[in-house]
Amino acid sequence: MTLAEIETWLREEDAGRLERLWAMADGVRRQHVGDAVHLRGLVELSNHCRRQCAYCGIRAGRNELVRYRLTETEIMDCVRLAASLGLGTVVLQAGEDPGLTRDGVAGLVRRIKAETALAVTLSLGERSDDELAAWREAGADRYLLRFETSNPELYRRIHPARPGETRDRLTLLESLRRLGYEVGSGVMVGIPGQTYRDLARDIERLGELRLDMIGLGPYLPHPETPLGRAGQTVMDAAADQVPNSAVMATKAMALARLVCPDANIPATTALATIDRARGHALGLQRGANVIMPDLTPPGYRELYAIYPGKTPLTADRIEAVRAIQALVASLSRSVGRGPGGARHREDVTSRPKECPSWSK
Ligand code: 5AD
Repeated sequence: MTLAEIETWLREEDAGRLERLWAMADGVRRQHVGDAVHLRGLVELSNHCRRQCAYCGIRAGRNELVRYRLTETEIMDCVRLAASLGLGTVVLQAGEDPGLTRDGVAGLVRRIKAETALAVTLSLGERSDDELAAWREAGADRYLLRFETSNPELYRRIHPARPGETRDRLTLLESLRRLGYEVGSGVMVGIPGQTYRDLARDIERLGELRLDMIGLGPYLPHPETPLGRAGQTVMDAAADQVPNSAVMATKAMALARLVCPDANIPATTALATIDRARGHALGLQRGANVIMPDLTPPGYRELYAIYPGKTPLTADRIEAVRAIQALVASLSRSVGRGPGGARHREDVTSRPKECPSWSK
């Protein structure tokens, strides 16, 4: 698909033609990754963060936000909950928290791999090659790091570099690949200042990166952030601004499925937040094959407020997973078993030979 075609689809508003886009994405999804929907248990380890991202509710400098970091015992409880619910993967996500040290995270990953059969996905921000290598060595399977936007100017505006920082997220994605991780990335849809051409380029870039996982969600303004406060003004000023709507987010997801047919693509929490009644279902019907239920203990998850309204429909984590399983069944899809890794990489030896826990 050419850049112009992607952009034309993003601008499409005719309901009949959009039905064709959804049907194409759904067909490619079925053909390449099948009807199974993989559930990944999300554990938000810490809301400490050293970054100043203009869009994010847990950015450094939000002094009024209560910060937490889960203990290893609390984390292992979540991990065991994931296993007992039959999930195949845990996603350990956090702000970019230096308190999550190289050796601390490595120990945690080793323990999870030793005590469970779960795949481990990390989403801990921009970390050093040394840390990423140690975590991979410890048995981590996958890493998620969204590049947020492929427009360098917009990226700089919403994601100030740290002093002395030389690597951008795209360079980091290459390191992750070299280290043998399954690699996931993605963008936000409808960032103030993001044009249709920008988003089309983002999608083209997702295809070029040949990602194993693609996470896309609508940008949701957080009132306590610089972008959330200024957003409306920027939006009014930007010609050709992409709206941050559910339909635009699912257009981007459907196109991501077309440019990256084998990828694991979640119906994201952001999509389910902007359309609480139908977000997950729409995602699954327009290209997605993954859902990431939040297993962070109640009491902490409210503090992981990267955007407002992230609270799930039910506070009970088991009930929430059951509801997702019921949704999957209602769409005549099945719940995936096992780790549900990247299909197109199963034939590639991306796994370190020295790591015994792989054999499980
Ligand atoms: N709205 C939507 N998505 C957000 N993220 C962070 N803040 C927001 C927001 N305000 C997304 C980013 C990040 C991921 C973990 O959450 O894309 O990479």
